[in-house]
Amino acid sequence: MLRMIICVSLVIFGRELAAADLPAAQPFGTTQTGDNVEVYTLRNDAGLVARIMTRGATLVELQVPDANGVSDDVILGFDDVAGYESSDNAYFGCTTGRVCNRIANGTFALNGHRYELAINNGPNHLHGGTENSLDKVIWNAEPFVSGDGRGIVFQYSSPDGEEGYPGTLNVTVTYTVTNQSNDLKIDYAATTDKATPVNLTNHAYFNLSGAGASTVLNHVLLLNADLYTPVDDTLIPTGSVETVVDTPLDFRQPQVIGNRIEELIGTATLGYDHNFVLNASNPGELNTAAVLTDPESGRRLHIRTTEPAVQFYSGNFLNGQKGKGNRTYALRSALCLETQHYPDSVNQPKFPNTVLEPGQRFQSSTVLEFSIAP
Ligand code: GAL
Repeated sequence: MLRMIICVSLVIFGRELAAADLPAAQPFGTTQTGDNVEVYTLRNDAGLVARIMTRGATLVELQVPDANGVSDDVILGFDDVAGYESSDNAYFGCTTGRVCNRIANGTFALNGHRYELAINNGPNHLHGGTENSLDKVIWNAEPFVSGDGRGIVFQYSSPDGEEGYPGTLNVTVTYTVTNQSNDLKIDYAATTDKATPVNLTNHAYFNLSGAGASTVLNHVLLLNADLYTPVDDTLIPTGSVETVVDTPLDFRQPQVIGNRIEELIGTATLGYDHNFVLNASNPGELNTAAVLTDPESGRRLHIRTTEPAVQFYSGNFLNGQKGKGNRTYALRSALCLETQHYPDSVNQPKFPNTVLEPGQRFQSSTVLEFSIAP
């Protein structure tokens, strides 16, 4: 079937893509439990290079040219599987789920059943659990070529009850690059056989000056959000949705990240770690979430998503761990822009629904587009 799609695509687009152009798997190492991990490389003609491994369908490297055409890796990560399995790994580049961000007290009720999840962040459940959350398991990978694009479909079937969540969840995450635009597209899809909450994101940490550069406090950020969801002392939303106006969270016009971050140091979030509600001009379509610019390198990242929100996290827990090439990842040396549904939605009836029902198909897309700032 896949071969047929490839052949048909080649005829339609008349490009010279062939089976030989299929991204090939390379060994990335072995987990502590003896599973082999592979990595795939995707490239386009504009110099974008993305490497994604089968553990956690994780983005391990993202090379992007700067204003002078010099490429650098703009995301945090490790050189080997041991790094990703270590306690230094703060979800670098991974697919996060089944439910990203927090679930209050690690529990929720659905259809008359109460479900208990791992408590792994203060009193709460974070990023899908401890042992078999989506960032830690090995995914199947199927490379494809289509038109002038190349991609990988990562697939994982999470058994009923895994990490305490109900239902067998069949998830795919597809990474695609093309020559039509200088971007990496991430498409998520999921089905289930029992009602279950689903909230998927990618947890890449960006520093557009190159991973390991000092901080991102000089980066300029625009967020397409008039509203955010305030949190309690354990970072669980209080349930209200409030305006960003007259707060350090107002990024409706581009703002230097470091300018107002100090105002948040004494708060529970220790910096930026907030869920911004996106102004969606076309709900369910790709809308701008964020535009991040690094004045030093000239690199610009424009994030579009079908998701209703984005978590802007300013790397407040980075602690000087050593990453790729033995570079140091200091406090605030990278930031995350996690497109998502609101945290703790399964316990918050006023928030957009995250419960996937049998017979439904969860679908969401996020595009990371790179350019040079004018
Ligand atoms: C973010 C979250 C932060 C922190 C981080 C992982 O998604 O918003 O509070 O938990 O992940 O260190």
